[in-house]
Amino acid sequence: VDGQRIRHKGFWFKPEFITASEAIRAHYTPLPSDIILASFPKTGTTWLKALTFSILRHSSTIHDDRDHLDNLNPHEVVPFLEIELFGENPSKDTTKISCPRVFNTHLPLSFLPDTVMTSGSKVIYITRHPADTFVSLWHLYNNKFGTEISIQEAFDDFCKGIVPAGPYFEHVLEFWEARDRDGVLFLTYEELKGKPEENVKRIADFLGCKTMVEKVVKECSFENLRGASKETGEGVHWSGTKYKMFFRKGVVGDWKNHLTQEMMKELEDIAEMKWRGSGLDLNIF
Ligand code: A3P
Repeated sequence: VDGQRIRHKGFWFKPEFITASEAIRAHYTPLPSDIILASFPKTGTTWLKALTFSILRHSSTIHDDRDHLDNLNPHEVVPFLEIELFGENPSKDTTKISCPRVFNTHLPLSFLPDTVMTSGSKVIYITRHPADTFVSLWHLYNNKFGTEISIQEAFDDFCKGIVPAGPYFEHVLEFWEARDRDGVLFLTYEELKGKPEENVKRIADFLGCKTMVEKVVKECSFENLRGASKETGEGVHWSGTKYKMFFRKGVVGDWKNHLTQEMMKELEDIAEMKWRGSGLDLNIF
């Protein structure tokens, strides 16, 4: 037990997430049209939510009757599976969401029902270099809680895996190992940043739809989403985090401004040790 978080099947979560993951395994029946956006926190979740929603909204092949929602607030349009749908006080009901249903989760693959892989539903996993993921998380801690956690202290926790949904390395590995299965798309934040059009097209193809790629990329740009989040003022996400805090810098490589070479070496060593033999390494980022 770490303050608020407990370790369950190898991963650190607040107890409510564990309860919810059990409820999900017991009561969530994936539909073939369901789309599950999975991620470790701070790897581009919000961006992927916006992109998926926008791809569907501008699709000529999938009918989506949610176009009336013109505010592109990713948190409003893509509910969080383990809190908003299967938490203790769910604010949304899976049966009332129009199809295709799009959900978001931070649960590792091993916490989701096996039917997610066999029902024909689609899983998109987004991940990001651990150094930038950590830096983004550390800023969130500081901004959100106003606590000045030293970077070294936060880094040690990240390396030990004692962070929400941690350890990062195992979380990524589970989805990496499933990446070639039908119905699974494994994406990185870096490839989306590097080639947004190509990767939006990849997501759309995976979802089986034709979409307006350039429009989607523009609509979901960092500037546009950040602007929209400011309009919602002090709007707050289920976790208590203000919407606008999901948009900080939005770049690749910000770790260089925060981590020492020794810290980077430590991440490389952990990746090498934990990912050995899997074909996964830091060069994918
Ligand atoms: P930084 O803190 O490095 O800026 P999540 O949504 O998983 O919590 O991830 C948040 C990270 O994604 C933040 O990273 C945030 O700035 C970045 N982000 C959010 N929207 C983005 C966008 N449209 N394009 C690029 N990065 C985005």
